[in-house]
Amino acid sequence: MNFRTIIEPFRIKSVEAVKYTTREEREGRLAEAGYNVFLLHAEDVLIDLLTDSGTGAMSAAQWGALMQADESYAGSRSYYRFRDVVRDLTGFRHIIPTHQGRAAERILFHTILKPGMVVPNNNHFDTTRANIEVEECEARDLVIAEGRVPSAVHPFKGNVDLDALERTLRDDGDRIPLVMVTVTNNSGGGQPVSLENLRGVRALCDQYRKPLFLDACRFAENAWFIKQREPGQASRTPKAIAQEMFSLADGCTMSAKKDGMANIGGFLAMNDDAWAEEAGTLLILTEGFPTYGGLAGYDLEAIARGLEEVVEEPYLRYRIRSTEYLGEKLQAGGVPIIQPPGGHAIYIDARALVPHVPPLEYPGIALANALYLEAGIRGVEIGSVMFGLQRDGSEKASAMELVRLAIPRRVYTQSHIDYVAEAVLEVARQREALRGYRIVTPPRPLRHFTARFERLEG
Ligand code: F0G
Repeated sequence: MNFRTIIEPFRIKSVEAVKYTTREEREGRLAEAGYNVFLLHAEDVLIDLLTDSGTGAMSAAQWGALMQADESYAGSRSYYRFRDVVRDLTGFRHIIPTHQGRAAERILFHTILKPGMVVPNNNHFDTTRANIEVEECEARDLVIAEGRVPSAVHPFKGNVDLDALERTLRDDGDRIPLVMVTVTNNSGGGQPVSLENLRGVRALCDQYRKPLFLDACRFAENAWFIKQREPGQASRTPKAIAQEMFSLADGCTMSAKKDGMANIGGFLAMNDDAWAEEAGTLLILTEGFPTYGGLAGYDLEAIARGLEEVVEEPYLRYRIRSTEYLGEKLQAGGVPIIQPPGGHAIYIDARALVPHVPPLEYPGIALANALYLEAGIRGVEIGSVMFGLQRDGSEKASAMELVRLAIPRRVYTQSHIDYVAEAVLEVARQREALRGYRIVTPPRPLRHFTARFERLEG
């Protein structure tokens, strides 16, 4: 069929009502939450774009699989089904289930890091960085220069700067236990990494004898971008592209709450026998027996089925297009966003939209709060609140001040997205009235989850 309209490739069997609130109610709720949208009750949010993590809608096939699950403590059939699907996709030998992505990170890094080590990545996600820093190591971001400039257009803005990686491997090689690449690059705007770049990273890792791990949370979205944008890839299936991405690596961490299409879960996968054995021991200590890793049998079933659905072409075409659709509407209305639109989210450039709010008065918080107040929409600041606190307790402006509108998988329809676009344009019209904030709670790691704010007047 040759029609231009891309439809949601599903019909809806079960619905969940959303709750309307008045502006006055939202004022009250936000004040109670210390002007931190993380502290709102989700019920008071009309359209929740806080994250695409664990917030997706499962398919009838996934819900059906839940009932078929085997809840045996050891050797559950559901584990083997999960293991086989992950192995088929990734090719890795050891498949270790965990309760979510950060548990895989913690187990990996606690297994292999010694104080003073360095882990390069295109951009570390916040929990990845925190799990490295807690081991007294350095998380080093080496994304290409275009990846740091919101308005720069590049088909693979998540790519690793190969020269910088080579320098890092040459100068600090003895302190580097592994190299990571995040696909897609969430902290850099949900931007993809090309196969060519992954091959380049692989070649450097071979040259310096370092293992390469993917942070694979959004591997399927990355594969779709490769299919669309990388020369010679258009006729391949997303799954075949994903398999090649994994074949270039020695292991991965994964949050199944994203491209696993599940509400909870994750895994750590790798080829190295010795590391896997140590990781398995740690797993038993904090997550659970190796055939469930902190998950119920039904979670393993949901993930196994989700990993099959996420690489289907109609799904990925709709998924990436609906994010792009929101991006196009905002851009057409003059709202500065990270270009081009990412896979799972649109990132509004708050520094450009509200230049009169200085970085350390948190323009991203000002914008996120205005979106909630005006329209009941919840997005998240990715800027100086999330990244600005230094290890010595001082504060430094982050490279970018963004508000991320992350789109849950298969949850919202086109009219929801139209509403979001209309609301963002309205807030943009009122941009001059937006004021900054200051943090009134003591500094602590990952402060963005818990910090409370006060609005600055004047
Ligand atoms: N790596 C990346 C790139 C992520 O985006 C996330 C989570 C994680 C690791 C950790 O996975 O949440 O299952 O422990 N990102 C979510 C987000 C929370 O909103 O972007 P997790």
